[in-house]
Amino acid sequence: MKYRSNILGIETSCDDTGLALCDRNGRIVWETLKSSFRKHSIHGGFVPELASREHESYVSSSLYELREDELLDTIELISYTSEPGLPGSLHVGKVFAKTLSKLLDKPLMEINHLHAHIFSCFINKKDSIRFPFLGVVVSGGHTSIFVVNSFVDIKEVMSTSDDAIGEVYDKIGRHLGLNFPGGPEIDRLYKEDLANVNMFSNYKKILNQNFLSFSGLKSSVINYINKKNRPNVSVEQIASSFQKIIIDSFLDKVFKILEEYNLETIAFGGGVTANSYFRQSVNKKYGIRCFYPEKKYCQDNGSMIAFLASCILTRKIIV
Ligand code: KG4
Ligand code: ZN
Repeated sequence: MKYRSNILGIETSCDDTGLALCDRNGRIVWETLKSSFRKHSIHGGFVPELASREHESYVSSSLYELREDELLDTIELISYTSEPGLPGSLHVGKVFAKTLSKLLDKPLMEINHLHAHIFSCFINKKDSIRFPFLGVVVSGGHTSIFVVNSFVDIKEVMSTSDDAIGEVYDKIGRHLGLNFPGGPEIDRLYKEDLANVNMFSNYKKILNQNFLSFSGLKSSVINYINKKNRPNVSVEQIASSFQKIIIDSFLDKVFKILEEYNLETIAFGGGVTANSYFRQSVNKKYGIRCFYPEKKYCQDNGSMIAFLASCILTRKIIV
């Protein structure tokens, strides 16, 4: 007989449609992920309407996969991303979750997308979770720092007032003529000895500000790239200097907050935390317990939604 206590997670906040089943022990037992990412690039940018339409078709085909694998009757709870995200994309996920909940006669749970990113590093290692800790989400859409006291007591202490770090990476990558997304490309080009933090005029200001804002740095790097009589510096030099500034200044704030709240553990989530200089710089700080998601769980996915819902359910907190 099949195990009948799986939690379904549905993620549709941006351009990834993810469905996954997590059991009550926090193990992912089934997952599927489809992305409309490539379909947007032919339009030269992200098209929200297209994302919603693709979610509609992807949720149907994912449901078909679930049925083919004879897993529909193993679901005891349906969780879905309720916020934040693109309104149209979120709506498709919500309607799908509600319909399935009525059809299967199973309860619903709303999950915050950023909270799910925070816990994604504990997927398949639930036993490592010890509260409180600092949760840090750095992706293409978000850059936020949280104090995490429990699965449902999560307080945001700082968040970018403008661009997310991944977004800045991608915009600068485009101006440097690199492939999209720019983050992994800049990471690949990075060389510590080429990084010159004085290349852009506002480095000291960025380092000293006690809030998160990256649009100033973005503009000065782009202005530098577009300068008519710019000195003969290579793409690698610009990429390395930019990466060092953005990561050093961000981690500086993360560690200040860690000290301020007297915490010793950080859980990282989101695409940018895959960056090698980022991880290297964090690892240099002794005495800190750090958790990073597996690469496939850095990006948006249904498993992180199902995993957090499973954690909340098994602690008997249904919200
Ligand atoms: O978490 P994610 O897959 O999607 C969002 O929810 O936004 O993050 C995508 C972002 C992109 O901006 C991408 O450039 C960035 O993560 N990224 C990186 C690296 N890998 C992905 N940024 C810096 N270094 C990397 N190695
Ligand atoms: Zn995300």
